[in-house]
Amino acid sequence: MVTVPDLSKDNTIPGQPATDRFNVEKLPHHLAIIMDGNGRWAQERNLSRIEGHRAGAESVRIIVRTCRKIGIPILTLYAFSKENWQRPGREVQALWRLLSRYLKSELDEMTKHSIRLNAIGDIQELPKSVNRLLVDTMNKTSANSEMLLNLALSYSGRTEIVRTAQKLAAACVANQLEPAEIDEVMFSQNLYTSDMPDPDLLIRTSGEQRISNFLLWQMAYTELYVSPIYWPDFREAQLMEALADYQRRERRFGKTGEQQAKEV
Ligand code: FPP
Repeated sequence: MVTVPDLSKDNTIPGQPATDRFNVEKLPHHLAIIMDGNGRWAQERNLSRIEGHRAGAESVRIIVRTCRKIGIPILTLYAFSKENWQRPGREVQALWRLLSRYLKSELDEMTKHSIRLNAIGDIQELPKSVNRLLVDTMNKTSANSEMLLNLALSYSGRTEIVRTAQKLAAACVANQLEPAEIDEVMFSQNLYTSDMPDPDLLIRTSGEQRISNFLLWQMAYTELYVSPIYWPDFREAQLMEALADYQRRERRFGKTGEQQAKEV
């Protein structure tokens, strides 16, 4: 179980100006982020794409810390899609190096702040040493309970849905399940994200307005926020802006405003 810490009497996030009032109860329980724009950030500075990813890894560190500090219980980051395998080999290798470095350097931080690491996606496709380090970090942090950091790696939303369909179909063929018994709850329970609620908020950086095969099933009612900022420049202040925008929204889940207000 993940609990939202009691931050302060007036619900002001520590380190934030007093004018930035946040309702701690209205923070997203599950925040998902498509980290985009590393390449363009680098290009604008005449740097290599790899330099852009390096700066992006620093944003990952800062955003994870900020989420932990303000009490967002689940953060899912789209770090590498299945489609990303088509990038030049050098870039792909650099991304695995950055991930390995991140896992090694942040283990103490995850332990100290009770952050559990989890991965979603076909992680057996990762280079063996990276896969081993990832699994090792997941094991070492498995008892941590204050925050869940989910990394989507070699992830594809469509593949995830197809795999779930195959799994349930196989159970039907084996006479363990009737097709009519399959419902949305059962389907959700057989996805990578079976033990977590759907994302409340999706942030995509760099201005692109696409879902890009990310959490397709899970995002049915997720609020979308597109930031024009490239991921390496997306830091604490930009996250706060996104959260403030989210808190101003009225989530109806297909109901009328009146109906929804009665339920809250
Ligand atoms: C998208 O930017 C970013 C990625 C495909 C990789 C994300 C990786 C990191 C942020 C660094 C390492 C990750 C961790 C978890 C430490 P892009 O390259 O598509 O940018 P562009 O659209 O401007 O080319």
